[in-house]
Amino acid sequence: MAVAAGSQAGLVPDAEFAFTAADFRKIAALVHGEAGIVLSEGKAHLVYSRLAKRLRGIGLRSFRDYCALVQSDAGADERIAMIAAMTTNVTRFFREPHHFDHLRTLLPPLAAAARAGRRLRIWSAGCSSGEEPYSIALTLLDAMPDAAQHDVRILATDLDPNMLTRGRAARYSRHAVAQVPPALKDRFTVAEADGVAICDAARALVQFNELNLLAQWPMKGRFDIIFCRNVMIYFDEPTQEGIWRKFAGLLNPGGSLFIGHSERIATERQPFDLVAQTTYKLRGHR
Ligand SMILES: C[S@@+](CC[C@H](N)C(=O)[O-])C[C@H]1O[C@@H](n2cnc3c(N)ncnc32)[C@H](O)[C@@H]1O
Repeated sequence: MAVAAGSQAGLVPDAEFAFTAADFRKIAALVHGEAGIVLSEGKAHLVYSRLAKRLRGIGLRSFRDYCALVQSDAGADERIAMIAAMTTNVTRFFREPHHFDHLRTLLPPLAAAARAGRRLRIWSAGCSSGEEPYSIALTLLDAMPDAAQHDVRILATDLDPNMLTRGRAARYSRHAVAQVPPALKDRFTVAEADGVAICDAARALVQFNELNLLAQWPMKGRFDIIFCRNVMIYFDEPTQEGIWRKFAGLLNPGGSLFIGHSERIATERQPFDLVAQTTYKLRGHR
């Protein structure tokens, strides 16, 4: 759908709420500015359907009023809710299982170093509802059952506060947990009346924090491994390039970066070497 400049015509025929090209452009600019997410013109229907629920909930009559709200100081909370409504949170346990096979090979030396007193840090950036950081935690506990006795942590961050609440709750449907390898499921999950809980030992390893990858990053220490999968696809190229570079600056020498199946890093411009499918290693020592 072409979104003509200045058009006041409704973008969605017979819509409950008036939604013009100007409204779409304002929302797309805000979402891009705040979260780096690119909403192409073809996404107008998606934007309408996701945000119409918010308008109904707040009791607004048009997207014009909604745009005024989210652009105002008083609309700060609604701006966060709008960005959350525009994100795609699809995830699953042990998504792209080859990453977890590779992770398993990285852990023995890191576990040995942690036992000798060194920190071991893994970051799941864009963690959604927690399936990714808990897949890392289960793999880690399997390789290092004594992880809790050492300085070992998994940081899980996302910009969507609703996803972090779900991650902290650590409760999933039986269907979701069916993706967990049986040996890990038996040892590290607990069946409950209406689903499955992640065991306390795995939960204790994971710290969920809100973080917009486009904002300032507060962490000081470096990471051994970063997972940032299926997040960059929503960003434009300059934003992606900037974030890959920031990841490089936060990795320990020889650290690893796992990215999504449809993403790639331009290794001619970034200090990473491709070492396995969508798996990169920080090049050299800086
Ligand atoms: C498709 S999910 C991917 C989840 C998981 N990494 C995986 O691969 O299964 C993308 C996640 O990125 C988050 N996200 C989108 N833009 C973000 C940003 N600017 N900063 C942090 N997280 C963001 C979304 O809220 C969403 O939970």
